[in-house]
Amino acid sequence: MKTSKKAAGAVLTFALLMGGAALTAAPAAAATKSYTAAQVAKRDSATKCWTIIGRSVYNLTSWVNQHPGGADKILALCGGNGTKAFKGMHGTSGTPMSTLAQFRIGTLKK
Ligand code: HEM
Repeated sequence: MKTSKKAAGAVLTFALLMGGAALTAAPAAAATKSYTAAQVAKRDSATKCWTIIGRSVYNLTSWVNQHPGGADKILALCGGNGTKAFKGMHGTSGTPMSTLAQFRIGTLKK
Protein backbone atom coordinates (compact mmCIF):
# COMPACT_ATOMS: atom_id res chain seq x y z
CA MET A 1 0.00 0.00 0.00
CA LYS A 2 2.73 2.39 1.03
CA THR A 3 4.62 1.93 -2.23
CA SER A 4 1.63 2.40 -4.56
CA LYS A 5 0.54 5.60 -2.79
CA LYS A 6 4.03 6.98 -3.19
CA ALA A 7 4.08 6.05 -6.88
CA ALA A 8 0.71 7.69 -7.47
CA GLY A 9 1.98 10.84 -5.76
CA ALA A 10 5.06 10.90 -7.95
CA VAL A 11 2.98 10.55 -11.12
CA LEU A 12 0.69 13.40 -10.03
CA THR A 13 3.64 15.63 -9.15
CA PHE A 14 5.23 14.90 -12.52
CA ALA A 15 2.00 15.67 -14.38
CA LEU A 16 1.60 18.99 -12.54
CA LEU A 17 5.21 19.98 -13.20
CA MET A 18 4.94 19.14 -16.88
CA GLY A 19 1.69 21.06 -17.21
CA GLY A 20 3.21 24.03 -15.43
CA ALA A 21 6.34 24.04 -17.53
CA ALA A 22 4.59 23.98 -20.88
CA LEU A 23 1.25 25.61 -19.96
CA THR A 24 -0.20 23.70 -22.87
CA ALA A 25 -2.05 20.72 -21.35
CA ALA A 26 -4.78 20.25 -23.91
CA PRO A 27 -7.01 17.99 -25.93
CA ALA A 28 -5.01 16.56 -28.86
CA ALA A 29 -7.67 17.62 -31.37
CA ALA A 30 -6.96 21.31 -30.80
CA ALA A 31 -3.20 20.94 -31.17
CA THR A 32 -3.12 21.20 -34.97
CA LYS A 33 -4.69 24.66 -35.30
CA SER A 34 -2.63 27.79 -34.94
CA TYR A 35 -3.49 31.48 -34.69
CA THR A 36 -1.58 34.76 -34.95
CA ALA A 37 -1.48 37.39 -32.21
CA ALA A 38 -3.43 39.63 -34.62
CA GLN A 39 -6.26 37.08 -34.78
CA VAL A 40 -6.33 36.92 -30.98
CA ALA A 41 -6.37 40.73 -30.76
CA LYS A 42 -9.71 40.81 -32.62
CA ARG A 43 -11.37 38.74 -29.87
CA ASP A 44 -11.11 41.33 -27.13
CA SER A 45 -14.59 41.49 -25.59
CA ALA A 46 -16.93 39.61 -23.25
CA THR A 47 -18.75 38.11 -26.24
CA LYS A 48 -15.52 37.01 -27.97
CA CYS A 49 -12.63 36.54 -25.59
CA TRP A 50 -9.43 34.86 -26.72
CA THR A 51 -6.12 35.06 -24.94
CA ILE A 52 -2.55 33.82 -25.28
CA ILE A 53 -1.05 31.92 -22.37
CA GLY A 54 2.39 30.46 -22.90
CA ARG A 55 2.52 29.21 -26.48
CA SER A 56 -1.19 28.41 -26.68
CA VAL A 57 -4.36 30.26 -27.60
CA TYR A 58 -7.47 29.94 -25.44
CA ASN A 59 -11.11 30.86 -26.05
CA LEU A 60 -12.24 32.06 -22.62
CA THR A 61 -15.63 33.45 -23.76
CA SER A 62 -17.71 30.97 -21.78
CA TRP A 63 -15.43 31.31 -18.75
CA VAL A 64 -15.76 35.09 -18.34
CA ASN A 65 -18.92 34.83 -16.24
CA GLN A 66 -17.95 31.59 -14.51
CA HIS A 67 -14.57 32.55 -13.09
CA PRO A 68 -14.63 32.33 -9.25
CA GLY A 69 -12.16 35.23 -9.11
CA GLY A 70 -14.48 37.54 -11.08
CA ALA A 71 -15.26 38.39 -14.71
CA ASP A 72 -13.02 41.48 -14.64
CA LYS A 73 -9.88 39.36 -14.22
CA ILE A 74 -10.69 37.40 -17.38
CA LEU A 75 -11.89 40.42 -19.36
CA ALA A 76 -8.51 42.05 -18.76
CA LEU A 77 -6.91 39.21 -20.74
CA CYS A 78 -9.23 39.22 -23.78
CA GLY A 79 -7.37 39.96 -27.01
CA GLY A 80 -3.95 39.96 -25.42
CA ASN A 81 -1.32 37.92 -23.64
CA GLY A 82 -2.52 36.58 -20.29
CA THR A 83 0.60 34.60 -19.41
CA LYS A 84 1.92 36.87 -16.65
CA ALA A 85 -1.51 37.47 -15.10
CA PHE A 86 -2.42 33.80 -15.08
CA LYS A 87 0.95 32.58 -13.81
CA GLY A 88 1.19 35.40 -11.28
CA MET A 89 -2.15 34.52 -9.74
CA HIS A 90 -2.47 30.78 -10.20
CA GLY A 91 1.09 29.56 -10.78
CA THR A 92 0.88 25.87 -11.59
CA SER A 93 -2.11 25.23 -9.33
CA GLY A 94 -4.04 22.12 -10.44
CA THR A 95 -7.63 23.37 -10.73
CA PRO A 96 -6.95 26.58 -12.70
CA MET A 97 -4.49 24.69 -14.95
CA SER A 98 -6.95 21.91 -15.76
CA THR A 99 -9.75 24.44 -16.26
CA LEU A 100 -7.57 26.44 -18.62
CA ALA A 101 -6.72 23.34 -20.65
CA GLN A 102 -10.41 22.86 -21.49
CA PHE A 103 -10.44 26.18 -23.35
CA ARG A 104 -7.41 25.61 -25.54
CA ILE A 105 -8.12 26.08 -29.24
CA GLY A 106 -4.60 25.88 -30.66
CA THR A 107 -1.06 27.17 -30.68
CA LEU A 108 0.30 30.66 -31.25
CA LYS A 109 1.65 31.19 -34.77
CA LYS A 110 5.06 32.84 -34.74
C1 HEM B 1 -6.92 32.89 -17.55
C2 HEM B 1 -7.59 31.90 -17.12
C3 HEM B 1 -7.98 31.64 -15.68
C4 HEM B 1 -8.54 30.48 -15.29
C5 HEM B 1 -8.83 29.26 -16.16
C6 HEM B 1 -8.80 30.61 -13.87
C7 HEM B 1 -9.37 29.62 -13.10
C8 HEM B 1 -9.70 29.73 -11.78
C9 HEM B 1 -10.29 28.68 -10.98
C10 HEM B 1 -10.59 27.25 -11.46
C11 HEM B 1 -10.48 29.17 -9.75
C12 HEM B 1 -11.04 28.41 -8.56
C13 HEM B 1 -9.89 27.77 -7.84
C14 HEM B 1 -10.31 26.90 -6.68
O1 HEM B 1 -11.42 27.04 -6.19
O2 HEM B 1 -9.48 26.08 -6.26
C15 HEM B 1 -10.02 30.54 -9.74
C16 HEM B 1 -10.06 31.39 -8.65
C17 HEM B 1 -9.52 32.66 -8.63
N1 HEM B 1 -8.92 33.31 -9.68
FE1 HEM B 1 -8.64 32.58 -11.54
N2 HEM B 1 -8.39 31.84 -13.42
C18 HEM B 1 -7.87 32.51 -14.50
C19 HEM B 1 -7.30 33.77 -14.47
C20 HEM B 1 -7.19 34.56 -13.36
C21 HEM B 1 -6.51 35.84 -13.31
C22 HEM B 1 -5.78 36.48 -14.49
C23 HEM B 1 -6.66 36.31 -12.04
C24 HEM B 1 -6.15 37.58 -11.42
C25 HEM B 1 -5.39 38.46 -12.02
C26 HEM B 1 -7.43 35.34 -11.29
C27 HEM B 1 -7.83 35.48 -9.97
C28 HEM B 1 -8.50 34.54 -9.24
C29 HEM B 1 -8.87 34.71 -7.84
C30 HEM B 1 -8.62 35.93 -6.97
C31 HEM B 1 -9.51 33.52 -7.46
C32 HEM B 1 -10.04 33.16 -6.08
C33 HEM B 1 -11.52 33.47 -5.97
C34 HEM B 1 -12.05 33.05 -4.60
O3 HEM B 1 -11.74 31.95 -4.15
O4 HEM B 1 -12.78 33.84 -4.02
N3 HEM B 1 -7.73 34.29 -12.12
N4 HEM B 1 -9.55 30.85 -11.00
